Order: sequence, then structure tokens, then C-alpha cells
Amino acid sequence: MAYVNVKEILLKAKEGNYAVGAFNIVDYSTVRAVIQAAERGNSPVIIQTSVKTVNYYGYTPIVNWVKHLADNAEVPVALHLDHCKDLEVIRRCIEAGWSSVMIDASLSPFEENVRITREVVDMAKKYNVTVEGELGAIVGVEDDIFVDEDESYLADPESCVRYIEATGIDVLAPAIGTAHGLYKKKPNLNFDLLKNIAERTNIPIAIHGGTGLTEEMFKKCIENGACKINISTDLKHVFRTSIEAFYKENPGEYEPLKVLAHMEKGIENLITSYINVFGSAEKTEKGV
Ligand code: 13P
Repeated sequence: MAYVNVKEILLKAKEGNYAVGAFNIVDYSTVRAVIQAAERGNSPVIIQTSVKTVNYYGYTPIVNWVKHLADNAEVPVALHLDHCKDLEVIRRCIEAGWSSVMIDASLSPFEENVRITREVVDMAKKYNVTVEGELGAIVGVEDDIFVDEDESYLADPESCVRYIEATGIDVLAPAIGTAHGLYKKKPNLNFDLLKNIAERTNIPIAIHGGTGLTEEMFKKCIENGACKINISTDLKHVFRTSIEAFYKENPGEYEPLKVLAHMEKGIENLITSYINVFGSAEKTEKGV
């Protein structure tokens, strides 16, 4: 009922000048926590999976968790495959029922990136699946993609226009100075570049490397055209710290379900705070 396409969620966000969070989940409990937070805030939400999570659980279980929870949720929920350079994994996600995929060929030369992205768009179109593509190279580690500071470079607005025209992607992830993982120094985001790209293009823009950005930075990203914001590291940290805190406070407790419930609450609260900052709360009619 409420399992939708990422494009559908993001076009509304673009028009309404807010952003929708895309949260990298690690298991069924974390999917549930993210969707519960979305329901609490009456917000659309994107469940995001890294390739290693897909390889760990397999395709069908993840789609089944998300579709089952989405069908019983009163807010729109989408399932997106994060950074993937393996076309076979992308094909299998599309066929299994993901509603969106990201092809990351950003370390290839421009023409090669266009060719590979085009191939994914052709594959996805038949299934009405959204495609996100990246230009520039975002510093840090995301799954098996490692970009050194020396290798990273920001997106060029003119190339973004050409990339979108040549590939037909639905969502653009331009490198604007954010980084995956924990920031080693104060993030230095190029908001003018983001604005310039947003003004020259007309598709939703995704910002990667959300963990560690301040509320003010998020708001400036949204003001300057971002409508999808990715969060991974923070969720994983809360996963760990909430479990650690539970055992510290309850050393004699051996019921795993109580630990999971505590962790879910921690993640739900985390996602709620992001939803409030991104402005996506109360942006959906219940039952959509
Ligand atoms: P963080 O791990 O910095 O939150 O980045 C998430 C991300 O961009 C996933 O693609």
C-alpha cells in the first residue's frame, strides 16, 4: 500500500523545499525503527541498503521486510540500493523489487561513467525503478568503494548537466565537499556549487555523508537544492551504543528481545531528530 518509488517521494520534496532522509539499515529491527520514526513524524522515508547488507541477507528477505512493513505503514516508504558498481547486483535488486538503485561509476572517466549509468537506466526503466548517479568523487569509505582525499574531487556543474542529459538518471549525487564516515576535520561544504548545480538541473539532488553535518549545514543544503540526505554511520553508532548502554544498565538480563527493543527505540529517536531537521515531518497525508 505505502511502498513507493523514490522518485515520487523526492519530486514532492523538491517542490516542497524539504529533504527526505535515506537511512542505511543493518537488519529487520533497524528497518522497523526507521519506519516507526517516519510514522511518528508522518514523514516519507527511504530505507537504504549497502551492497554488503544485501550480500549478507540476500535479496528476497530484505524486500520482504521492507514491503511487509511498508504495506502496514501509513507513510510512503521506498527501498534504495546505495553505492553499487556491480551491474549484476543492481540487476538482481531491480528484479527482486527495490524501488531505486544507485550506480556509482564516479571513479571512471566521464564518458565511461555515462555509458555504465545509461546501461543501468535502460535496465531500471522497464521496472519503473528510480536511478541515482554520482558525479565527482566523495571522499571516505562506503562499502567497498574507497576514495582517498587526493582522489576526491567536486562535481562540475556543466558536466552534471551533460551527465543527466546523456543518461536519463532520476536523482543526481554531486560531490560538494561532504565525506562518508566520520569527519576528520570540520566539513567544508561548497553551498555555492550545490546552488549552481541545482539551478542548472531539474532533477532531485542527493547529499551523501550526512553523519557529522550540523543542523545549520543540513538546512543550507536544503535551501540550496538538496532533497535526499544519506545517513549511515550515525545509525550504526546508535545501534552499538544503545546495545552497550542496555547491558551496562542491565548486566543480568539475558532476554535478547529486550536488547533489540532498546536498540530500536534509540534508532527511532535518532531518525526522528533527522526527520525534524530535514523538514519532512507532517509532509504526507496518512494513508498515502
Ligand atoms: P555517512 O556514513 O557519513 O552518514 O554517509 C552515508 C552515505 O552517504 C551513504 O551513501
